[in-house]
Amino acid sequence: MPHHLTGGGTTLLLDFDGHALPRVLHWGVELPEADAVPRAENAFPLLPLEADGWLGRPGLAGDRAGQFPHLRLRRTEQTTIGAADAEAGVAVACELIMDEHGVLRMRHQVRNDGDSPYTVAALRAVLPVPDEATELLDLTGRWGNERAPQRHSFGYGTHGREGRQGRPGHDAATLLVAGTPGFGFRHGQVWAVHVGWSGGCEYYAERHPDFPGVLAGGELLASGEVRLAPGETYTSPWVYFIHSAEGLDGISARLHGHLRARPGHPTSSRLVHLNTWEAVYFDHDLHRLKKLADTAAGIGVERFVLDDGWFTGRRNDKAGLGDWQVDAEAWPDGLHPLVDHVRSLGMEFGLWVEPEMVNLDSELARAHPDWVLAAPGRLQRPVRNQHVLDLIHPGAYAYVRDSLDALLKEYDIAYLKWDHNRPLVEAVHEGTAAVRRQTLATYALIDELRARHPGVEIESCASGGGRVDLGILERTDRVWASDTNDPVDRQHIQRWTGLLLPPELVGTHVGPATTHVTGRTTRLSFRCATALFGHAGIEWDITACEEDELAELAAWTAAYRRLRGLLHSGTTVRVDHPDPSVLVHGVVSANRDRAVFCYAQVGTSVAATPLRLRLPGLDPGTRYHVSVCPELHTHSAFQAPDGTFSGQVMSAVGLPLPRLLIADAVVLEIEAT
Ligand code: GLA
Repeated sequence: MPHHLTGGGTTLLLDFDGHALPRVLHWGVELPEADAVPRAENAFPLLPLEADGWLGRPGLAGDRAGQFPHLRLRRTEQTTIGAADAEAGVAVACELIMDEHGVLRMRHQVRNDGDSPYTVAALRAVLPVPDEATELLDLTGRWGNERAPQRHSFGYGTHGREGRQGRPGHDAATLLVAGTPGFGFRHGQVWAVHVGWSGGCEYYAERHPDFPGVLAGGELLASGEVRLAPGETYTSPWVYFIHSAEGLDGISARLHGHLRARPGHPTSSRLVHLNTWEAVYFDHDLHRLKKLADTAAGIGVERFVLDDGWFTGRRNDKAGLGDWQVDAEAWPDGLHPLVDHVRSLGMEFGLWVEPEMVNLDSELARAHPDWVLAAPGRLQRPVRNQHVLDLIHPGAYAYVRDSLDALLKEYDIAYLKWDHNRPLVEAVHEGTAAVRRQTLATYALIDELRARHPGVEIESCASGGGRVDLGILERTDRVWASDTNDPVDRQHIQRWTGLLLPPELVGTHVGPATTHVTGRTTRLSFRCATALFGHAGIEWDITACEEDELAELAAWTAAYRRLRGLLHSGTTVRVDHPDPSVLVHGVVSANRDRAVFCYAQVGTSVAATPLRLRLPGLDPGTRYHVSVCPELHTHSAFQAPDGTFSGQVMSAVGLPLPRLLIADAVVLEIEAT
C-alpha cells in the first residue's frame, strides 16, 4: 500500500507492501496521491540491511557480544513505523515528519528487547536519489575560512564526511547535496541531507552498480559508546532531507521556511551589536570600555557584548576558564558599573562564556582535577591551552549551571555568546567514550538555563563557525559564522552558511580596516555592505575612528534598522553569475514587492566589460524601480538605471553595470511601482 508524505512541493512515497519495513518508491518532486507509481522489484528499504539485498553501508549496525551482526527486520504494529528482529531481540522505530515547506526529518530508535547488552555501532537515516543525480557538493573549511564548497562527481563507491571533534567542526560538511549535472543556486534538481547534531556526525553518498545512489547521515559513534542494557533505547539525531527542483536556493528556501516556522525562532528585531573582542581583547579597563560603549551608542548600536577576559584570572588565554566569577582585580565593583552604563545608554548587555571548557590553571581545575574530561592519568594534548570540562559529572554540571545562573540573576544580561574553542579528543568518562553524553549534557545545560532565563538570547560560537548545526540551533538564537571579519572571505562564508541558515541566524560584523585574521585592508563601504546581510554588528575599536568613519557607520546602522524587517523575513537569492570574481546575492520579500541585492567585486575579472547583472527571484509581471541604498557609500562610480523594469527583464536581460573597484560592493534596493 503506497503512503504519500507530501509538503512544500516535495513527496516521499513509501510502499508498505509485505512484512518488511516500507520501501522508498520516490523522494523528489510532489506527486498527486492519485498517480499510480510502478512498483519496483528491490525498491529501496527505509533502513537498508544486508537481509534486504543491500550491499552498501548498513542503516543499522550493532551486535550482542558479537552475535547477531545482521538483523532481519519485520514490521510490527506501532504508531511510528516499527520493525523487529524477534530472534535477535532488537526492535526499531522509524519516525518521519514532512513539514509544509518540504523539509523531511527522519530519526530512528533502537530498543534492546533481549536479556543481554546490545551494542549499537551505527544508526543512519538513508534515502535513495535518482540516477540523474550525478554530482555531489558539500562544504569544508578551516578556522577563519568556514563553509568552503567542494564538488565531486557522484561515481561508484562512497563519498563520506565525518566530524570527529565532538562538534561539527570548521570543516563540517553542513549539507551533502546530490544533483543533476551542473546544478547551481537557481537551476538543477538537488537532494540534500543535514545532520541536526552537535557531537560526532557522519554524512555519506554511496553508489553501487546494483543499487540506487543514496544520501545518508547520522551520529558517528565511538567503539562501545552505545551499549544498550535490556529494555534501553538509543535514538538517532534528527536527520534532515530536502529536495528542490529549482537548485540550491530551493533547498535554502525550504530550510529557512522550516526554521522560521519553529515556535522558538527569534521574532524580535535583531539588534545591532558591538562586540568588544577585536576592540580590546583581554585589556578589560572600565574607563576604556565605557568610552567604547559611548561611541557605540552614538552610532546606533543596540547591544554591547563583553567578550572574553572578564572572569577570575583571565588576563590571557592561558588561565581562568572554569572560574565563572567576575575578576575582582579587573572589576573591583563587579560588572555593575559597565552594565549600568551600557543600560543607561539604552543598549542591552551581552556576555561571553565558554562553559564546556577549563584551563588547568584555574581554581576549578585545582579543586577538581577529576572534572577534566579524560581518562585518569591520560590528559589530552591541550588546544588553545585548554581542556574540556566533564559535564557528564553531576558535580561539574551543577557547578557550571549554578555559576551561570548566578551571573544571569545578578546582572541584566540579555545575551550570551557561548563559545567552544577546542575539539574533543580521547573524550572518556568512567572508562567509556563520552562525546555523545557530553553533547547531551551540553544540550541539557543550555535547556536548563533557558528555562530559568527565557528572555536570554544565546549565540553558538566555536572559534567562529565550528558548531553550526540544527541541533544546537534548537536551543540557540544565532551562530558566529567565522572569526574572520574580512569582507572578501565573508562574502563567501556567508553565502554558503546561508545554504542552511537564514540571515537573521548568522552573525555578521564590521571589523577594522585591516582584518586581524587575514591582514587584508579593505574599504569601510565594502565591510558595511557585507555585514548588512545577516545579524549585524561591529567588532572594532571605534573609539579610534575618524569622524567620517563614525558617520559612515551610523548611516550603515540606520540602513540596517530600516532594512532588517525585509532581510530577516524574505527569500534568500544567490545569482549564478558567470564571472567568478563577482558575487551577487539578495533577499526578496515574501510577496515579491521589495528586494535588496548586493553586487560585490571580490577579485579581478577576466572580462574587460562587466557582465550584465541579472536579478532573479522577482515577480516576472511586476515592474520595479531600482535605486542604490542611500545610506551606504560606494567607492565605484555607480548609478542605478532610470525607469522601471519588469521582473522578467531584470532576470532575463539584466542591468548594465560599470566595473566596480576590487573589494567594493553596491547595495541595490528594488521596489515594485
Ligand atoms: C573565540 C571566538 C572569538 C572570541 C574568542 C575569545 O575564538 O570565536 O570570537 O570570542 O574566542 O577568546
